[in-house]
Amino acid sequence: MCGIVGYVGTQQAAPLLLEGLTRLEHRGYDSAGVAVLGGSGLRVAKRAGRVRELADGLPRRFGGKVGIGHTRWATHGPANDTNAHPHLDAASRVAVVHNGIIDNAAALRTELADDGIVLASDTDTEVLAHLIGRSRAETLEQRVAEALGRVEGTYGLAVAHADFPDRLVVARNGSPLIVGVGDREMHVASDLAALVRYTTTVAHLDDGEMATITATGFTTYRLGASGLAATERRAREVDIDPTAYDAGQHDSFMHKELLEQPTRAEAVLRGRLDERFGTGHLGGLNLDARELRAIRRVKILGCGSAYYVGQMGASLIEELARIPADAEAASEFRYRNPIIEPDTLYVAVSQSGETIDTLLAVQEVQRKGGRVIGLVNVVGSAIARQVDGGIYLHAGPEVAVASTKALTNMFLGFAMLALQLGRVRDLSIADGRRLIGGLTRIPEQIGDILATESDLAVVAQRLAAAESLFFVGRVRGFPVAREGAQKFKEISYRHAEAYQTSELKHGPLALISPDVPTVAIVPDDELVERNVAALHEIAARGGPLVVVTHASVDLGHLAGGVGADGVDGAATVRIDVPRNERELDPILLTIPLQLLACHAALELGHDIDKPRNLAKSVTVE
Ligand code: G6P
Repeated sequence: MCGIVGYVGTQQAAPLLLEGLTRLEHRGYDSAGVAVLGGSGLRVAKRAGRVRELADGLPRRFGGKVGIGHTRWATHGPANDTNAHPHLDAASRVAVVHNGIIDNAAALRTELADDGIVLASDTDTEVLAHLIGRSRAETLEQRVAEALGRVEGTYGLAVAHADFPDRLVVARNGSPLIVGVGDREMHVASDLAALVRYTTTVAHLDDGEMATITATGFTTYRLGASGLAATERRAREVDIDPTAYDAGQHDSFMHKELLEQPTRAEAVLRGRLDERFGTGHLGGLNLDARELRAIRRVKILGCGSAYYVGQMGASLIEELARIPADAEAASEFRYRNPIIEPDTLYVAVSQSGETIDTLLAVQEVQRKGGRVIGLVNVVGSAIARQVDGGIYLHAGPEVAVASTKALTNMFLGFAMLALQLGRVRDLSIADGRRLIGGLTRIPEQIGDILATESDLAVVAQRLAAAESLFFVGRVRGFPVAREGAQKFKEISYRHAEAYQTSELKHGPLALISPDVPTVAIVPDDELVERNVAALHEIAARGGPLVVVTHASVDLGHLAGGVGADGVDGAATVRIDVPRNERELDPILLTIPLQLLACHAALELGHDIDKPRNLAKSVTVE
């Protein structure tokens, strides 16, 4: 979603700002803009469309060594040139870029209009520019603080002011902002992706914090009712591979990231498996054995793929620890006045750690006295800071909207959590060790599945021809089907619907026909016979089948092979994945579905990493 960049230094700002914005493109946006402060004052260029178009249309004289830039995801008002950021005050001396939402913008707009100010855009952000522009306080910091004192809502923002040409002032409340320290230059961005090319020495601002950025350094303050109090914030080196944000020789980030899964899976497991006692070793939970033992229920909260993997996690916890567990879409949770119980463990799961629905759900639980742990990928993100404990997923930066390696590591995180919860209860040491053995095999088995990519690409090409598909699975396999359908629809734009295999005959079977393929998840588990029977019902209605299964499963006369008869007609294609412990099978069954989605989207010629209408991090409700 919206992205912010800023620069103060010795170089021309515009090219650096545009480069930074390009690095934020994957987050999703519909318009972009930059403002620079130079000898001739403040200059602004902004427009609906891609960063490339903004760069191509930039006026020749656009000099300045201080500047801010923005990619906008429309919330208040349509995506057009006027609503794009930066926004200016009436005298065109203040430029503001803003992420988040100003809740009392309507009232402030009326107040400004009553004072004779003509608002140029439909946005909430513009009020900030006018409020800062109107302030007569002595310093820019005081002017920004005064304006922020009037607004309710969330923001990450960066302000440039022609009367204070040596600096930017930035502030954060609910929307990330990171300061990057360079050599006689300073950067600012809402995401590390825009900084790592220039520096890996960074400082994350806290909510309620403001910073002044000049070419030689930065100073931070806490925004309070009684004014600005200096805070002590040091920049630190982040351990990040700058090439993580380059797709390299891959045609998409999604493809690059899904191929990284074996090594990233090793990273999340490293040092967290206790073979001797057959348990997980998740120090960051901040829960001792007695506290773990006292947990009577687990509630998992996440959105999108994180929600579906949360359902896989709930199954794992119920099976291994025999504690009631379920997952709920974080976006729904807080709107039904949820009952928060003291002996429930709440688990927030999020790749970005920024998803506003998940963050607000965490806050709702905490407000009512509940304890929340996080499974989060981005270190230092809002959710990671908000939770009472948890583990990092060590998936490395994930750029593609469609989550692959982070999702896999979420599953592995849940498996270790389930082990730890199980081992303070009735899970035997032998079962604990059995599962540790299984977890240890997973990275290599993922690699084995990835090695079958060319076969899966053939199946994907055929699936891409269908307008509509079903993904079906039962019990452990149902969240796999949901995640598979999600991946497929979000990047191929085909209608893909997930169903419990057992529910087919209660409705969706009416839609089965030779034009509607079904991707069925059929592991060799206690439900295999029932699942195979359902496949026959589909085949009998001419429904093409792609069966993700184990080699040991006998599909009877349905049996085919990858690349055999294809999915046209009533033919069945089987995709065999390696077997693991049955509790851990869901993640291995998920991997081929990632490749099917990726190759179907490629076949259809879509921009896999930037699916239409979607954003990587959804930071507004
Ligand atoms: C967005 C993305 C999804 C992602 C979801 C949750 O909707 O498009 O791919 O699964 O947010 O994101 P999170 O960062 O919280 O895991």
